[in-house]
Amino acid sequence: MSSKPISAPSSLAKIWRTLAFRLTAAYASAGLGLVLLATFSLYLVLVSELNRSTELFLRDKVNVLSTMLRERPDDADSLREEVELESAARRYEQFYICLKDQEGKVLLMTPGMADQLNLSMLSSLLNAPGGAALPMTGTQGKSFRVIAATAHVGGTQGRPVTIQVAVDVSQKDGLLRRFRLWFWCTSGILLVLFPLVGYRIARQGIRPVEEIATTARRITSSHLGERIAAEGYPYELASLALTFNNMLDRLEDSFERISRFSADIAHDLRTPVNNIRGEAEVALARARTIEEYRDALESSLEETVRLSELIGNLLFLARTESPLTHLRLEAVDLAELLEQVRAYYEASAADAGVTLTSGGAAEPVIVDLDRTLMQRAVSNLVSNAVAHTPEGGTVAILSESEAENVRIAVADTGVGIPPDALPRVFDRFFRVDPSRSKASGGTGLGLSIVQGIAQLHRGNVEIASTPGVGTRVTLCLPKRHPRNAPVA
Ligand SMILES: Nc1ncnc2c1ncn2[C@@H]1O[C@H](COP(=O)(O)OP(=O)(O)O)[C@@H](O)[C@H]1O
Ligand SMILES: [Mg+2]
Repeated sequence: MSSKPISAPSSLAKIWRTLAFRLTAAYASAGLGLVLLATFSLYLVLVSELNRSTELFLRDKVNVLSTMLRERPDDADSLREEVELESAARRYEQFYICLKDQEGKVLLMTPGMADQLNLSMLSSLLNAPGGAALPMTGTQGKSFRVIAATAHVGGTQGRPVTIQVAVDVSQKDGLLRRFRLWFWCTSGILLVLFPLVGYRIARQGIRPVEEIATTARRITSSHLGERIAAEGYPYELASLALTFNNMLDRLEDSFERISRFSADIAHDLRTPVNNIRGEAEVALARARTIEEYRDALESSLEETVRLSELIGNLLFLARTESPLTHLRLEAVDLAELLEQVRAYYEASAADAGVTLTSGGAAEPVIVDLDRTLMQRAVSNLVSNAVAHTPEGGTVAILSESEAENVRIAVADTGVGIPPDALPRVFDRFFRVDPSRSKASGGTGLGLSIVQGIAQLHRGNVEIASTPGVGTRVTLCLPKRHPRNAPVA
């Protein structure tokens, strides 16, 4: 089974589906949007501040003149100075003042005002004195802000005079214009710059993912040793890489087991077949007596039995791993089952000079079990224990009942298992000492079968061993198989 690798998108239509494109678009639009928003609000603040300062200036002028007219109506020199000279001293932001009586006759006016402003237009614009400052364009195209107010000469009952003040704001307008120009230019540059920077950042962020994908693509069953070097990756991707590496570890381990398993099967099948073939070839090499033929057939039969046992075990193991396997569950008295196994092994244990005992709870413990399978599992444990216990030792079959589970333990005072071999004893075909096991007829499938049976019963199996002291294998099984448990 092979799946086509997802290649980089070629057509433009597909580019929008790439992560780099989406990140770039998101980054660029967010960045640009924020910059535009910030600049625009800055512009609005600037406009309102400039307007405010102009307005304050105009109102200040109006106030000064009103006060002068009211408080010092006879001081014509100061008034003239204020109207005619002060503006002339300024280079920028020049202002113009015009004082008119009620008939519209000009009393005093800043020199040059008539050149800059259309006075009748100014008067009609400011027909309601006392309002806010208004914008007006001068005769030479300059921008002005204008304001008007009424003052009374010599006090509130005095003769009313209209004060018109205009200030040249083309400087400020120029500033705003330059600001807007700068704003559009910068926006144009950012429009190009943001996507470029965004793309670079996105590519940098995605690179580890691509590296992971490249490594994953390189990995095949014969190249399971490849790992992703996650140093320097950001935390999230490092943990992705680590998860990926862990998965590879497990896969590599499984592959190794499978290939070892196949090699072991081949080896274990070949030996008896070779033996049978050798026997037959030797027997057929020349004429034999009936006795010799019988011997040859007998030893072939022995090998055949071994072979069919091995095949039977392998099939059995395959079956225990299939999710379709059904248990024939029944309520079994545990003590009775263990006693049956003990009785079965009594003779062979006695032959080996090993004491075999069984014991457990005083009250009968009833467990949901597949009787045949469980007998087989316990038998495998007892036969292992007897085989690895020297003369004079003991093998005990024990049971212990807990609230939900039962524990079946087979403990011996035998040779034990070295710690480095202990984690592997449940592997198929694993034997601590193959030559010794061969003598005892073992193929290394016994404990795998025990484990398979325990798992079928939704239980597990544990082993503890000390070399030279003994071994204890414990099966832990639920009393009520989930399939039989009453629905709550
Ligand atoms: N009770 C035990 N004492 C010492 N070694 C044991 C015991 N049970 C199992 N072993 C070791 O575990 C290996 C695997 O056991 P098993 O799967 O039953 O295979 P087999 O008995 O066919 O060799 C045995 O070869 C043996 O080395
Ligand atoms: Mg065994």
